[in-house]
Amino acid sequence: MILIIYAHPYPQHSHANKRMIELARTLENVEVRSLYELYPDFNIDVAAEQEAVSRADLIIWQHPMQWYGVTPLLKLWIDKVLSHGWAYGHGGTALHGKSVMWAVTTGGGENHFNIGSHPGFDVLCQPLQATALYCGLNWLPPCAVHYTFVCDDETLQAQARHYKQRLLEWQEAQHG
Ligand SMILES: Cc1cc2nc3c(=O)[nH]c(=O)nc-3n(C[C@H](O)[C@H](O)[C@H](O)COP(=O)(O)O)c2cc1C
Repeated sequence: MILIIYAHPYPQHSHANKRMIELARTLENVEVRSLYELYPDFNIDVAAEQEAVSRADLIIWQHPMQWYGVTPLLKLWIDKVLSHGWAYGHGGTALHGKSVMWAVTTGGGENHFNIGSHPGFDVLCQPLQATALYCGLNWLPPCAVHYTFVCDDETLQAQARHYKQRLLEWQEAQHG
């Protein structure tokens, strides 16, 4: 099962993520948990989230980039759900053998990430990748959709198709 942990603060105003979610939903064995709709008060049901994660083979952290990082509710989800004794630490093996993919949309393009002493998009993977590896997850190459500020509908739709294809290929590889 592919579990999409979807953390868009304003899903009804989305252009890029909305298309990606719509197409991903057309695949079998894909479950979407829209965190901002499930928990508008930020009161995450940790047991329900851990139960969903337990059933997943691939977890996807999907969100629009905000200030070079994850959205606040996704950060809280990571803090609460990946708990000691469950995701890491003594007896914390719940995530071992599962995979995770970061699916992120960004308003900016390549130049947007080429500022500061640690330029480039790839360095932004570090906190999530390190978290994943710390918990025994297998880190897959991210799916990043850039330039959402300038992309037309057709381009965004093509990006969403590419996303769906990535998920489909992952599913096929599991069965092969
Ligand atoms: C508070 C806030 C911070 C943002 N920070 C960034 C950023 O650091 N880098 C970037 O490329 N885009 C940034 N954006 C733009 C969003 O990533 C972009 O609007 C989103 O990916 C588009 O996806 P959507 O159509 O699904 O909303 C930011 C947007 C908001 C509202």
